Amino acid sequence: MMNLMTGLGAIGGHLGGWRHPRSWKNTAMNLDHLVWAAKTAERGKIDMLFVADGNAVRQMDKPELFAANSPSDRPTAFEPTTLYSAISQHTDQIGLMATATTTYDEPYLLARRFASLDHLSKGRSSWNIVTGSYPGDSKNFGRDEHVDRLERYERSEEFVEVCKGLWDSWAADAFIEDQESGRYLDPERVHVLNHVGKHFKVQGPLNVARMPQGYPVLFLAGQSEQGRALAAKHADCVFSVANTIEQGKDYYADMKGRLAAHGRAPEHLRVLPGATIFVGRTESEARELYEELQSLISPALGVPYLSKLVEEDMSKYPLDGPMPALSGETNAISSFRKTIVEVAQKDNLTVRETYERVLPSMGHVLFLGDAVQVADQMEQWYREEACDGFNLAAPVMPIGLEAIVDLLIPELQRRGLFHEDYRGGTLRENLGLPTPKNPYFD
Ligand SMILES: Cc1cc2nc3c(=O)[nH]c(=O)nc-3n(C[C@H](O)[C@H](O)[C@H](O)COP(=O)(O)O)c2cc1C
Repeated sequence: MMNLMTGLGAIGGHLGGWRHPRSWKNTAMNLDHLVWAAKTAERGKIDMLFVADGNAVRQMDKPELFAANSPSDRPTAFEPTTLYSAISQHTDQIGLMATATTTYDEPYLLARRFASLDHLSKGRSSWNIVTGSYPGDSKNFGRDEHVDRLERYERSEEFVEVCKGLWDSWAADAFIEDQESGRYLDPERVHVLNHVGKHFKVQGPLNVARMPQGYPVLFLAGQSEQGRALAAKHADCVFSVANTIEQGKDYYADMKGRLAAHGRAPEHLRVLPGATIFVGRTESEARELYEELQSLISPALGVPYLSKLVEEDMSKYPLDGPMPALSGETNAISSFRKTIVEVAQKDNLTVRETYERVLPSMGHVLFLGDAVQVADQMEQWYREEACDGFNLAAPVMPIGLEAIVDLLIPELQRRGLFHEDYRGGTLRENLGLPTPKNPYFD
């Protein structure tokens, strides 16, 4: 079966989505919209919600883009675990995946937040482990420059190990609450971590009881060599970037091939590329929405958005000249530059054609058509081992999510590609992932 997740947001994934006449109004910090979206995704039996995050107001150096409220930058946004604490009380089954950085956070604080969320949601928490996509975050944490990729990943690896150690602090049966003996807890059932490493010194234990899932479902989105190595060791799921099925297959084979070295089974790492879904009752209805949204994007917006994705100032190249062959490493998200330049070269695209191509799907793949046509494309990716499912983006909210739930999901279910209902229990159980044993007590 496929796994499906979707972004939890009020403005839709297309840069022009919030301007559509049928889009939501009053979207800034509006919990009511987000509760509705979470319940609607749960109605569609979607495995998990996704909230990206950062710790800065981004793109102020690109005034047109900044003012246009790019959905991947979000100048105003709830802190994800706080938001999910609220969402968890309005939903019962859907997973809650929150992004949090290992570069500017502390393991004890983060481990505590996610353990709390797992208890509050009865085992539905998931952590998207990121090292930081936006260099400007560094300026809010006593630095002038983003931490270099190698150092970020080195810290990230130790960070994750410390969190796991903290989550193993308590046996599941440590809190005995024996009124007769007066022992609320069993002092033999707690483990003190005493971690001392290069980046962290953390004594422990964590002041939150063993969470229902053992650990939150661990996600990674980094695609560089360092990102892949970390994911092969620790991640349950990866959020990947692929513009074409070939890119998807390469990444899928590479990631699954890395697992045996860590004693892990291929099915225990789920590969979920992003995909933007334009689905209508007919193909022409879907195309009409696409054209409508694209007409809202002028070069003044498209060029800085492309610059952001490939991390290079694209305004210095002629708009209708060829997309340049950008090479070299970027210090933020390496995969977008690589996949976008590959697509532009394969199809001989100009700068304008490149942003027109990648912008509606924010650098990911785009599937457009009626439900049968979109399901055909998804099925091909799934059957040809380019993915284990998708992270679906709706271009306009709420109509994009409604179309996914009411048109696309039933078609996937009809084909036996997607579950009819949750299995029940925790997010790990729903995804078919093992629940980690506690090395000190199980
Ligand atoms: C699809 C995707 C989504 C990401 N989402 C976020 C995010 O929400 N917040 C963040 O700080 N970093 C995010 N990242 C950044 C990565 O997690 C990683 O820290 C960064 O890409 C650098 O590593 P890489 O070169 O290995 O990709 C994302 C990366 C990708 C590819």
